[in-house]
Amino acid sequence: MIKHRVAIFASGTGSNAVNLINTFKGNDQIEVAFVLSNNSAARVLDSAKELGVKTYCYSNEEVADGAFLTNLCLEEKIDWIVLAGYLRLIPSELIAEYSNKLINLHPSLLPKYGGKGMYGSNVHKAVLENNEKESGITIHYVNQEFDKGRIIAQFHCAIAPEDQQSDLESKIRHLEQAYLPIVIQNTILA
Ligand code: GRF
Repeated sequence: MIKHRVAIFASGTGSNAVNLINTFKGNDQIEVAFVLSNNSAARVLDSAKELGVKTYCYSNEEVADGAFLTNLCLEEKIDWIVLAGYLRLIPSELIAEYSNKLINLHPSLLPKYGGKGMYGSNVHKAVLENNEKESGITIHYVNQEFDKGRIIAQFHCAIAPEDQQSDLESKIRHLEQAYLPIVIQNTILA
């Protein structure tokens, strides 16, 4: 049987990329074809290699080139792209080629705390500064507008009054680890 081929784009540690790789290892319907990063120092590149997954690393200029990225994904026969902690803008050519096949993980309950500059710890800081009682994660399709593509799934966590940024980060990480793989699997196989 031909497997659905998934590319993961990541810029940093890659705990989500690793979770996806481990989840789909040995899966007879889905395979992680490669991990792509814009950051040559990203831990995700070493982790993926250790797990036997092909990696690509390109400069910020290269990953801004829509024709280049699109050709790479088409040559690699990629069916789905998952952005897991990927910090660069996706070129419009790639979005057009992979419309409804390009999925992002965002560490807040969109539409809250999305948009330009809202990534990583900036999101958690803003959530805590606004005394929110809850936060969560959003898994959504990517379209031309930052963090505004159709939402596939959201998962919530409560914020206690005494929660620090590290507490919120670990709650979010927990949700990501628990739910990203299953949502990706269900979306691909739907
Ligand atoms: C995650 O919190 C993800 O939601 C966000 O960036 C973080 C990446 O973590 N977009 P990791 O690189 O997967 O460990």
